[in-house]
Amino acid sequence: MFVIAGATGRVGSAVARRLLQEGAEVRVLVRRPEDAAPWQERGAEVRQANLSDHDQLRAAVRGSAGFFVLLPFDLRSSDLDAHARSVTAAVAGAVSDEAIPAVAMLSSGGADRASGTGPIRGLHEVETALRATGTRLTALRPGHFQEKVTDVITYARASGRYPIFSRFPDRPRPMVATADIGDAAAQALLTPASRSEAVDVHGPEVSELDLAADLGTALGCELMPEVIPEPAWAEVLTATGLSAHAAESVAELYRADDAGLLAPRGDRVIQAQTPALHTIRRLVADLTS
Ligand SMILES: NC(=O)c1ccc[n+]([C@@H]2O[C@H](COP(=O)([O-])OP(=O)(O)OC[C@H]3O[C@@H](n4cnc5c(N)ncnc54)[C@H](OP(=O)(O)O)[C@@H]3O)[C@@H](O)[C@H]2O)c1
Repeated sequence: MFVIAGATGRVGSAVARRLLQEGAEVRVLVRRPEDAAPWQERGAEVRQANLSDHDQLRAAVRGSAGFFVLLPFDLRSSDLDAHARSVTAAVAGAVSDEAIPAVAMLSSGGADRASGTGPIRGLHEVETALRATGTRLTALRPGHFQEKVTDVITYARASGRYPIFSRFPDRPRPMVATADIGDAAAQALLTPASRSEAVDVHGPEVSELDLAADLGTALGCELMPEVIPEPAWAEVLTATGLSAHAAESVAELYRADDAGLLAPRGDRVIQAQTPALHTIRRLVADLTS
């Protein structure tokens, strides 16, 4: 039986769906009782657990052959590092105390670095703590999610503009669909590697200008790229609802990306194929249906 955190989210739901399709026994973790029914209807067991609560988590992972876990970013939190520390302690403690044999963790490119990467620092901490538990860890390190476009669809439709937080809008970067990450995580649980490894999960190379064009195509209009100057990144992010601390942290992440610090440095690369335009068309259809 496999335990899947973040089942109401993008990657966690994709992992759970794939494992159920493969006929595996699945226990999903949710935070709200009303999120249980859709999973029970699909044949999954459901537990309520918070990723910061060691005791809940320990009971939830007990007896499992493998655990999919993530560090959700709470960008309204005034201290991302404290949030990361509390999730790290609870998750690594539960995995260690219950001697879970295999863990697939949603990490990120850049998680091998201990600093200078904004919120990805927390993923470095989770990877490091999980490795120390003795479990066989598969740290999945995607680049950008294609689904990040979701955050700007409403703004783009209303303004005709596509905001870009990069000094290199025409630089191609690997962007992966979350369903492809879910497939990679499910595979890591079904057939764990013989030792712990870090796996870069990359999608097709797409620039921010390409994304603007793809979103325009999906919306049926032409979008004007709006390159936000670097000194204004934190201020603009704060205006969208991020805490001041989170905005500074995310701006550091964007600078790290521009500086090439998120490049693949894992043990191997999985090259996923879903095109960004395919994902963006679905996101737009979901939003308008
Ligand atoms: N966006 C990118 O480009 C990118 C790139 C590389 C890596 N990442 C990593 O991917 C993560 C996001 O993955 P995603 O898109 O699948 O997430 P998502 O769709 O935002 O979903 C987050 C999931 O985590 C759950 N969750 C949040 N806080 C929790 C808590 N304290 N205890 C238990 N469950 C909790 C949520 O449950 P509720 O429904 O209850 O809220 C939800 O199921 C980021 O946090 C980052 O670590 C992102």
